[in-house]
Amino acid sequence: MWQINSNISQEGFFLSLEKELQSLVEGEKNLIANLSNICSWIYHSFPDLNWCGFYLWVEEDQQLVLGPFQGKPACIRIPLGKGVCGKAFQEKRTIRVDDVLNFPGHIACDSASLSELVIPLIANGKQYGVLDLDSPKLNNFSEKDESEFTHILNGLTSKIF
Ligand code: SME
Repeated sequence: MWQINSNISQEGFFLSLEKELQSLVEGEKNLIANLSNICSWIYHSFPDLNWCGFYLWVEEDQQLVLGPFQGKPACIRIPLGKGVCGKAFQEKRTIRVDDVLNFPGHIACDSASLSELVIPLIANGKQYGVLDLDSPKLNNFSEKDESEFTHILNGLTSKIF
C-alpha cells in the first residue's frame, strides 16, 4: 500500500516514476539492460517489495520464463494460466492479489510474499510477458497502484520491445 510521506504524494510518485523509467530506457535498445534497470528502479522506489521482476513469454516452450529481477531466486518456468503470472498473461489483464493465500493456484516462490501485483506487457496488440511485484505485506497494492503501473508499463513496453 502506498503511504504518503512528507516529501511526495502518491500522484507525484507515479508521475516521477513514469519519467524516471522513460529516461532510463531512452536511447537504449538492449532488452535485458532495459528490463534490469526497470525492475531495479521499481524495487528500490516502491514501498515494501521483496521481489520485482519479469517473466517473458517463450513461444517455442509455450511458457513464461524468468527474466531480469530483484529479490531472491525464483521459479524459472510458469505454464500458461498457472499462478498469478500465468493467469495475468493468459487473460491479458493486470491482476492484483491482496492475500496470496486466497488466490487458488498461487505459486509461492518466496514464502515471505503475501500480496502481489502482476501487469502484462502488451504493445501493438502483442504480448511479451509480465511484470511481477511481490510484497511481504498484505494488501500492499491499491487500485490506484494497479492502474498507474498498468499505464506506465503500457508506455514502456511499446518502447523497449
Ligand atoms: N507468485 C507468482 C510466481 C512468481 S514469484 O512470485 C516471483 C505466481 O503465482 O505466478
